[in-house]
Amino acid sequence: MLKQGVLPMSSYSPEISTYNILLIEDNPADARLFMEFTKDFNIISCRTTWKQNLKDGMQEIDKQDFDLVLLDLSLPDSNGIDTARKVLSLHLDLPVLVFTGLNDEEIAHQLVAAGVQDYLVKDALNEKILEKTIRYSIDRHSLLENLRHAQAKLQDFNDTLEKKIEIRTRQLQDAQQRLIRQEKLATLGKLAGFLSHELRNPLATINNSVYFLNLVIKEKDNKIGKHLNIIKDEIERAKAFINNLLDFSKVKTITLGRAKLDELIIECLSCVQMPKSIEVCTDFMDRCHEVRMDEVQISQVLHNLLINAIQAMPDGGKLMICTNCTEQYIIVQVEDTGVGIAPDHLNKVFEPLFTTKAKGFGLGLSLSKEIVEMHEGILEVESRIGQGSCFTLKLPRHR
Ligand SMILES: Nc1ncnc2c1ncn2[C@@H]1O[C@H](COP(=O)(O)OP(=O)(O)OP(=O)(O)O)[C@@H](O)[C@H]1O
Ligand SMILES: [Mg+2]
Repeated sequence: MLKQGVLPMSSYSPEISTYNILLIEDNPADARLFMEFTKDFNIISCRTTWKQNLKDGMQEIDKQDFDLVLLDLSLPDSNGIDTARKVLSLHLDLPVLVFTGLNDEEIAHQLVAAGVQDYLVKDALNEKILEKTIRYSIDRHSLLENLRHAQAKLQDFNDTLEKKIEIRTRQLQDAQQRLIRQEKLATLGKLAGFLSHELRNPLATINNSVYFLNLVIKEKDNKIGKHLNIIKDEIERAKAFINNLLDFSKVKTITLGRAKLDELIIECLSCVQMPKSIEVCTDFMDRCHEVRMDEVQISQVLHNLLINAIQAMPDGGKLMICTNCTEQYIIVQVEDTGVGIAPDHLNKVFEPLFTTKAKGFGLGLSLSKEIVEMHEGILEVESRIGQGSCFTLKLPRHR
């Protein structure tokens, strides 16, 4: 009598392929029929393990490497299309052949659509059809597996390529913006030299004249006094602009020394005039390491960021300065709860002469970015209009 377990091997010969087959079939007569057929195979041989219910069959799949599962749909613990679906859902890597007494084209179609290799009707079967179907199913499945692997590889490759293109595009955009900025800076440098030469003397003369007028007009009415003051203020503004431009054109090299960022921040905070309406919070990491930097120029960057944050909060708010670090960078974040930056201004704020302020020069951030990039660092901004801005300064830890 035939017992479930490993059945005798059919027509074994070392030259022909031997397939490890799992037969899940509750009817011993049908299992015997299958065995009889496999004995007469010519091209392949089969080592068959027979299980009589789905649960035992599934457990066996976990124990052995099968080449194919031959599945009856009507088992004691499962019935119909679901039987095949249960096997396929857990073992997509295995070719499954349905071996059934029911000749139903519609079910056959649904099974193949679900991923079954073929649908064999027991009554219409002979050893030739069975051998051919087993061979073709295994071959077809292996081709599909190869295709699936190739597709996965291609997908991986595509993802990597997309990421590389994205990084490269960003690098190119950064490089392009840097070039534009540097070109503008160079032009501004020349302009600064010219302006300082051509305008400083006339400004000094106007300044002297205002001084003189202030002295000689003893009884100035309010209007004259007001206008003299306006002239004086504007002379100072023009001088400041020329000085800023000159500073700007001076930044060409950095002198690296060692400094601690938290100490630098505290120093900068003590130098700015902080309105009472602004609450200042600092959060420095436990051990703020020393970084190699040009202390004077990084102080200027911090100063620019602090001044901008203060100017962004005319009605008061909160200014948070924190330090952090990653393997690569020491990071300072200057965050305010001010007016924020409009989305279409976000990529312009680092351009020289971009300003939205009535009395701004639009030099602070472009100068700061230049300084940071000379340190091989990064200066970036995130902002929400009406909610505030956060400027992040990253300096390399190891240089
Ligand atoms: N913290 C901030 N919040 C909102 N907007 C900001 C902030 N910092 C910068 N900006 C925007 O970026 C622009 C450019 O800033 P940048 O410091 O370069 O020039 P500025 O402050 O206008 O003039 P200055 O040359 O005197 O610094 C500002 O005019 C402002 O619109
Ligand atoms: Mg500024």
